[in-house]
Amino acid sequence: MWPPSASVALGDRSLFPTLSARAYLAHSAISPASSLVQGAVQQVMDDYARLGVEGFMPWLERREGLREALAKLIGARAQDVGLVANTTTGVSTIALSLGWRPGDVIVVLRGEFPTNVTPWQRAAELFDLRVEFLDVEDFAGSSGVGLERLEARLKAGGVRLVAVSAVQFQTGLRMPVQAMSALAHAHGAELFCDAIQAVGVLDFDVRALGVDYLAAGSHKWLMGLEGCAMLYVAPERVAGLRPNTAGWLSHEEPVSFLFAADELRYDRPIRQRADFVEVGAAPTTLLAALEVSARALLQLGTPAIEAHVHGYLDRLDAGLRERGFHSLRSDVPEQRSAILSLRLPEGAPGIDAFKAGLYERGVSATQPEGLLRMAPHWPNALGEVEFVLEAVDEVLAGASSPPK
Ligand SMILES: Cc1ncc(COP(=O)(O)O)c(C=O)c1O
Repeated sequence: MWPPSASVALGDRSLFPTLSARAYLAHSAISPASSLVQGAVQQVMDDYARLGVEGFMPWLERREGLREALAKLIGARAQDVGLVANTTTGVSTIALSLGWRPGDVIVVLRGEFPTNVTPWQRAAELFDLRVEFLDVEDFAGSSGVGLERLEARLKAGGVRLVAVSAVQFQTGLRMPVQAMSALAHAHGAELFCDAIQAVGVLDFDVRALGVDYLAAGSHKWLMGLEGCAMLYVAPERVAGLRPNTAGWLSHEEPVSFLFAADELRYDRPIRQRADFVEVGAAPTTLLAALEVSARALLQLGTPAIEAHVHGYLDRLDAGLRERGFHSLRSDVPEQRSAILSLRLPEGAPGIDAFKAGLYERGVSATQPEGLLRMAPHWPNALGEVEFVLEAVDEVLAGASSPPK
């Protein structure tokens, strides 16, 4: 039966029976594989082991179910979603496929994860464009400076695209995507959103936010595996793309020649759908894994997941501030995400030792840019927070070995 039915509940990690960390707070990096994900991979393997080539078409067709599930998570239509190898490939595909005019300006943000910078720089070299930076820090807090600077740059003219991450990977700052896209559109520009740190855990609606293009990899908040990602293209933008990265599966009726005589042609049009980006053989195991994890997210509902995660982080943030940590979580609720990042208190061990100490005590966190980053998802129970704080106290106290 596909997709398998699953029982999921907020705060219940019974789908992760072998996960060693007692508090897994690294979803902003890589999610652990649930038993659903493992089962999906196994199912594809079993099918290919049994059927060989006869497994190809059924799994190709099931990809529509995945597209539908991903589309629902972002408030889009299935036909506006394509599947690519990772977030970077999604960014690159759009960077190579926009109908650029020489001299066009791309606005990016200093402080962003490089996924949303490097491909724009490459496109700038190839198509004679200019990349300009604004500072991500200007968007934190209630000053409004970031939006003012963006507006001023757009008013000055020449900007074709604004590229932004929905959530900043190191600080967890949730960006004002809607305001940014409204400004971009008002000045004839478009908006690209790297949403890997948002989709799956935050309530996110591309239409309401005015996003033109979005990429999000599978292995963080979507809780799939590494090596696949979604690319969304707004319906009104598809026709404007140049399919510079098309392949044999990008054509209309791409597989008909495999099953009938006189069907082999090279002049079938490239599909004017987001899935023209699916250029060749796909990672079927990874896509099956992504479908079951996306369906679990839909079952729970992203508004409920988001509320759950905020509840968890409210408690954790308060506890860590009491212990002298400097929290980077915004005072403005709309700027909060599922990431809590902190600087360690005075007198704490260095970040490497601190993170290692937490890990020894059953707390898995990450440390981008020297910050302590904690990122729970739907399976994390609220009751876990006390355990995390106890582990923090022990590391701060310099305890040399974990409790038995
Ligand atoms: C904001 C952001 N974008 C992109 C990525 C990764 O991109 P990719 O899926 O291409 O590896 C990360 C983290 O790995 C990230 O935090």
